[in-house]
Amino acid sequence: MFEVLLQARKQKWSRLKKAATRAGLSMTLVKEISKIDPSEIVKGLSGDRRLSVLYSVPEWLLKEFKTAEIPQLERFLNRIQQDPQLWIRVSTHLIRKGELIERLKRNRVEVVEDEHLFDVLKVLSFRGSLSKLSEFREGLFAVQDKASALVSHVAGGVKRFKVVDITGGPGLKATHMVQLGSLRAMILEISPRRAGEARELIRRLRMDEKVDIIVCDSTRPSLSLSKFDVIIVDPPCSNLGRLCSNPELKLILRRSDIVSMSKLQEALLERAVKDAKEGAVIVYSVCTITLSETSHVLKRVLGKLDRVSLTEAEPLIGVPDRDVPGTQRLYPHIHETQGFYIAKLVRD
Ligand SMILES: C[S@@+](CC[C@H](N)C(=O)[O-])C[C@H]1O[C@@H](n2cnc3c(N)ncnc32)[C@H](O)[C@@H]1O
Repeated sequence: MFEVLLQARKQKWSRLKKAATRAGLSMTLVKEISKIDPSEIVKGLSGDRRLSVLYSVPEWLLKEFKTAEIPQLERFLNRIQQDPQLWIRVSTHLIRKGELIERLKRNRVEVVEDEHLFDVLKVLSFRGSLSKLSEFREGLFAVQDKASALVSHVAGGVKRFKVVDITGGPGLKATHMVQLGSLRAMILEISPRRAGEARELIRRLRMDEKVDIIVCDSTRPSLSLSKFDVIIVDPPCSNLGRLCSNPELKLILRRSDIVSMSKLQEALLERAVKDAKEGAVIVYSVCTITLSETSHVLKRVLGKLDRVSLTEAEPLIGVPDRDVPGTQRLYPHIHETQGFYIAKLVRD
């Protein structure tokens, strides 16, 4: 209970209400306990119990974080109590970056260029909602985390490429690939609602001619993946890399969710590798931090299948992974991004 309620002190009211509802708690209770000073409660506690209560993380999850060897764990725990850093992706096929920066400035949205990715801007301040801006409606930018945008750069947007994102809704990575020069992109997505979101993004970014969508289950896709040069596998995960945006996950998630996610991730990655043509690039990315959903999935697939090898996931912006060399991890407290894992494979 403490875990829930200490959180109450640190969240915006609207967000807290959402979290409390999802966690099945009454707002009256949340309001009462939000008055408590966390440092008072943890007096006398030590070790993991202290961290668990102070940072509102259930002990089983803290154990997951420790197993994942997150660098500077307490800084991470502190960072995930705060709002996420917001990033936007410039629609470089529609506007020059400098021009967009100027237009946003006139609308009192302050952004700066990113030091690593030429098409990503860091949002320093804004008022109201970015989606209400005419620049958004005109498709001049998309709201996308820098770590998520890194995935398409790792995949490499070389011209001629035919790309498929086999878990593609709401279309961020597929559209990014087209922006980076891919000839065509295909989105496979199991949820009609998510496919609808992708359709909306494609329309807004004016890419109707270049991106297609098929609603299907990609563990058994209704088309062969063998005609694609690049296959993006960006499957559902525990979303633990998104704790700054969705702190309520700490209360809702169960260890069993991580296990079932990792099975789906493995099935999707295995399917992609088996179906890929010789020379095809397969990028595996997940917005989470646990080993079970990242390097362990990768190692199991690499152990089972032949004619597939790892290659460097470049550009390297994150921390090189110790478990599987060539792959990288990004963290909110170090890179100001969502927590992410990115690996790149080639079908031999
Ligand atoms: C992390 S999101 C993908 C985000 C997307 N790649 C992008 O860049 O915008 C994972 C997606 O996988 C979809 N999904 C889950 N199981 C699937 C399956 N068996 N086949 C296809 N899509 C699936 C989910 O509905 C969800 O939209």
